Amino acid sequence: MTATDIKSANTAPEAGANDPNRVRIFDTTLRDGEQSPGCSMNLEEKVRVALMLEEMGVDIIEAGFPIASNGDFDAVREVANAVKTSSVAGLARASSKDIDRAWEALQGAAQPRIHTFLSTSPLHMRVKLQMEPEEVHQAIVDSVSYARNLCPDVEWSPEDGTRTEHDFLCRVVESAIRAGATTINIPDTVGYTVPSEFAALIEMLFNRVPNIDKAIISVHCHNDLGLAVANSLTAVGVGARQIECTINGIGERAGNCALEEVVMALRTRPDAMPYSTGVDTTVITRASHLVSTITGFAVQPNKAIVGANAFAHESGIHQDGVLKDAQTYEIMTPESVGLNESNLVMGKHSGSHAFREKLKDLGYGDMGQNAIADAFVRFKDLADKKKEVFDEDIIALVDDTIQHDSDRIRFVSLQVVAGSKGPQTAELELEIDGQVASTKSDGNGPVDAIFNAVKELSPHSAILQLYQVHAVTGGTDAQAEVTVRLEEDGKTVNGQGADADTLVASVRAYLHALNKLNVKREKTAPAALSA
Ligand code: KIV
Ligand code: ZN
Repeated sequence: MTATDIKSANTAPEAGANDPNRVRIFDTTLRDGEQSPGCSMNLEEKVRVALMLEEMGVDIIEAGFPIASNGDFDAVREVANAVKTSSVAGLARASSKDIDRAWEALQGAAQPRIHTFLSTSPLHMRVKLQMEPEEVHQAIVDSVSYARNLCPDVEWSPEDGTRTEHDFLCRVVESAIRAGATTINIPDTVGYTVPSEFAALIEMLFNRVPNIDKAIISVHCHNDLGLAVANSLTAVGVGARQIECTINGIGERAGNCALEEVVMALRTRPDAMPYSTGVDTTVITRASHLVSTITGFAVQPNKAIVGANAFAHESGIHQDGVLKDAQTYEIMTPESVGLNESNLVMGKHSGSHAFREKLKDLGYGDMGQNAIADAFVRFKDLADKKKEVFDEDIIALVDDTIQHDSDRIRFVSLQVVAGSKGPQTAELELEIDGQVASTKSDGNGPVDAIFNAVKELSPHSAILQLYQVHAVTGGTDAQAEVTVRLEEDGKTVNGQGADADTLVASVRAYLHALNKLNVKREKTAPAALSA
């Protein structure tokens, strides 16, 4: 078989996509993405992200690392139970304990995948694993065979693959495939490689590993040199048929390959890269917004595909060109990524039926009746204050309503005195476990006064790590979307709040984070709650 024949034969057994040029999208937002410091997501948030990835048509969703913590285990189990059409993967090191735990978490999955890995570079083997290459080789054979006896779909990764000696890499890849791996993933763990070198490495595997046609070749690139997308695409050019990536490119250090960028590059340039994915690109904008809201990781305005300016034309020459023919300066349409011309939705006279229909259009079809009713009340309130209500407003408002469903501490009212004459004061009313309590505090500015008031009503030792405000739309009457990150005993949570009043949004975000901390405390020490 020639290298070209092998590449053509390199199709997923399970994908049903007989097209040899179909590239599988493996999303690891919930595993590698969540590993970035400060980027914590709770179980319910992970399930929401997973369902959106499924709606987007992602082939494989890596939901977590089940042995890492009970929280990770629960998240993989719940995602596995909820997702029906995408495969769900759980990560495991090369040990039967890890693999058993991953397999246990994946029991409810319609299409489970065990993803197991072990470092293979000289540096990692010597310093991190303190194992000889022969021992590593044996551990790979044992772990992959063990996983394959449990699950028909097994992915294996040589961690730090791009810094692994070529002879050893070929040997372990061949052995992993012989032991039953159906996907071989080559990670650029430290984001060190460059496109020409990475392409040569993948091509070398196709040329030298005799059973390479029995597995899908995948790539997993980190972005330390800003090359993750370029490296992934170049690997596809020489035969890789799975790309591992995350929404907004979140991940350890500089992050992972950005899903939206690889997918849109493939879609926009089929002339240069004749490969397809199963992704419905119109879900990209919503998914990006969901992930950035939940994690508190803002998307930079000039970020490709999902940045606020990605489709904005500021200069007169560009605007003139785009008005004459959008293609003069637009290589893809805003609609192709689900960014509609700021859709005017409804005004204060719109009824609940139209509102429900709008929710369905925006992907909130499965919201419960109570949540819809609450969101409708808030929509009416917003429509009273704001001249024009856009899709973005509804999304922010609904996200805010959904996440406050089971809060123990609820916002009731806020009155603030701010300005240059000081002191700034906040009069705050909260409902805590069904009891209304109020207080008046001052502070160094209105936000400080509000947060002090919250602390008086609900004492806690959490430390504020992030306070971030983002305008949902343009205009001075835009809703503010606030993120607050709190840290307590090494645990980090992100809270979000949206409101036409920035200070109300701030208190909502702070309370959301506090409520999440309460849930975390409840899980670890139930008795502490009544103290
Ligand atoms: O970056 C990496 O090497 C990984 C592996 C576990 C695939 O995330
Ligand atoms: Zn990684």
